[in-house]
Amino acid sequence: MAIDLIRSAIEASQNAYVPYSHFPIGAAVKAKDGQIYQGCNIENASFGLTNCGERTAIFKAISEGQRDLEEIAIYGETQEPISPCGACRQVMAEFFEPTAQVTLAAKDGRTAKMTVGDLLPYSFLDLK
Ligand code: THU
Repeated sequence: MAIDLIRSAIEASQNAYVPYSHFPIGAAVKAKDGQIYQGCNIENASFGLTNCGERTAIFKAISEGQRDLEEIAIYGETQEPISPCGACRQVMAEFFEPTAQVTLAAKDGRTAKMTVGDLLPYSFLDLK
């Protein structure tokens, strides 16, 4: 199953809008009902407005009304399996269980598996 999700993340990276970094990222989120949401990074001439691939995929799912996210795969053209940025880790912590599986994939197909809780332990989760 993770293999299919990695394929989906690689496919998503083909839509990356990366005229500044030339560093395409793709992500694929699987919901508990089996639905897949793909996302890519979308850059902007005002660099700070860039949206990472992970957040694009998660925000697509959430904006479609999906709340039960199960798993995410992330692909980057990196030597080592891509390491998600801090902002994306925080957004993952908001919408996935800490035990949710994260599969990180490198350009040669190597993967690393971990959980959302591994990526961001002791995360800030609510205002209470
Ligand atoms: N990027 C992502 O899409 N995800 C990450 O986890 C790390 C960084 C993007 C942002 C920018 O378009 C490019 O990679 C270089 O930082």
